[in-house]
Amino acid sequence: MASRRIKLAPSILSADFSRLGEQVAEVTKAGADYIHVDVMDGHFVPNITIGAPVVASLRSWTDLPLDVHLMIEQPEAHISQFAEAGADIITVHVEAATHLHRLVEAIKDLGVRVGVSLNPATPISSLDEVLPLLDLVLVMTVNPGFGGQAFIGSMMGKIARLRKVLDDRQARVELEVDGGITASIAPKVAEAGAEVLVAGAAIFGSKQGAGKALQEMRKSLGLSG
Ligand code: DX5
Ligand code: ZN
Repeated sequence: MASRRIKLAPSILSADFSRLGEQVAEVTKAGADYIHVDVMDGHFVPNITIGAPVVASLRSWTDLPLDVHLMIEQPEAHISQFAEAGADIITVHVEAATHLHRLVEAIKDLGVRVGVSLNPATPISSLDEVLPLLDLVLVMTVNPGFGGQAFIGSMMGKIARLRKVLDDRQARVELEVDGGITASIAPKVAEAGAEVLVAGAAIFGSKQGAGKALQEMRKSLGLSG
């Protein structure tokens, strides 16, 4: 078991949207660390989800950091809206940014934490120049767009390589992993060096209910409670 403190970030993409507030309150009570909010525009990814008004509504249901994952084109046009809505972390995709450095600075100027995400095919080296500016790197372990996809096994090596880069550079950056994480895969992802684990279908799609599923995943990681 990795010694670093692992955080769990349930993704609301697989929640029952008709009672989203209650579902978020349930995983908050069960020990979630962040609430992961997937924003999709139907262009950068082939699916449309939610926007800033939903982030603003969630604010009254949890005190946890709202971890907003923007899978959208032209993210620079929308970041202020999400910061105003109450996002605590705003993550953009390197593949969606023409001027990544400017975008990262703009997010920092909004007073929120900044993350950058890599699609499965995007190399770690694309982060080289901005790494010192970041709070979080999000490694996608599925091709983004949908919940409930299978974890791409070859991404385990990428997580471990990124861990080494962060350690070698003594970067104070959280390594978050997103896509296909289940209670059985979670400990392996943690072992490879991840600190924040996003899980959607395994939590909100679970028959036993989101709170129980989250507790199970915590147990699989050796987290107390
Ligand atoms: C995928 C999203 C993920 C997704 C994860 O494009 O970024 O956050 O909700 O869902 P699961 O855990 O079901 O793969
Ligand atoms: Zn996500």
